[in-house]
Amino acid sequence: MSDIINGKLLAQDIRNNLKEEIKKLYNKFKKKPGLAVIQIGEIPASTVYVKAKTKKAIEVGIEVFDHKLNNLDSEEDLIKLILKLNKDENVNGILVQLPLPKNFNENKILETIDPKKDVDGFHPYNVGILSTSQISDKDLLIPCTPQGCLLMLKNLGLNIVGKKAVIIGRSNIVGKPMASLLLRESCTVTIAHSKTELLPEICKEADILIAAVGKPEFVKGDWIKKNSIVIDVGINRIEKKDGDSIKTEIVGDVCFEEAKKVASFVTPVPGGVGPMTIACLLKNTTTAFKSYHCQ
Ligand code: GUN
Repeated sequence: MSDIINGKLLAQDIRNNLKEEIKKLYNKFKKKPGLAVIQIGEIPASTVYVKAKTKKAIEVGIEVFDHKLNNLDSEEDLIKLILKLNKDENVNGILVQLPLPKNFNENKILETIDPKKDVDGFHPYNVGILSTSQISDKDLLIPCTPQGCLLMLKNLGLNIVGKKAVIIGRSNIVGKPMASLLLRESCTVTIAHSKTELLPEICKEADILIAAVGKPEFVKGDWIKKNSIVIDVGINRIEKKDGDSIKTEIVGDVCFEEAKKVASFVTPVPGGVGPMTIACLLKNTTTAFKSYHCQ
């Protein structure tokens, strides 16, 4: 049986430490870190994430500037808003919730954000810095979900040097930055995806398996190496039969009940990666504040 990695608890720890740090920074600079959160349209999942990010940010002492644009606003409106926030010295971090409506050019929007305020770590400058590791860790703005996954891994206190890591998913938000991070930790990294041939066999070789495909309970127990570490990034809402009624449930990309019989460590959904993503966003916002005020 696996140990269940408690992301909720670790995220709470990170937020408690940030709250203390932000208090000290406030005493010194008489300013709070500021985070601008931009949502375009009303995708229900995005609304849930934005609300959770806003609530947790305020709890640790970050000032949140919420900007809601509707589907009638244009890409130009969004660019104008970002350019204004780039100049605003009360704003240390700018987050544009993804996905954007189809008619918006995501790359163009992300490239408009000042890299120093890019608390998602999605700007090509920050992506490049992460993959070439040119600056010290303390200034890096690392994408929040893979950063959270790595913190959970490191918190286990195991030596992961030389271990075989398989990431399922090649997104810019999770898969690719996760690969960069694990390479920096000297893991041997494979990025697989939904079109990868012999996927179960490849997963079965992984000492560390990161599932980020967005398919409910896609990874089965017999794909998992005995005594491995399984990190489940998926958040999928599914309908399950409950007697005569149907209830909705949140499940990950891994079949949790099967995984926990095989792996040494496994993250649950919910309560695993999700809270860590938010904690890392707050951490990045504090990092951006310190880079601005403490240089
Ligand atoms: N949509 C899903 N995950 C993320 C994230 O980490 N940041 C932003 N901005 N949008 C997302």
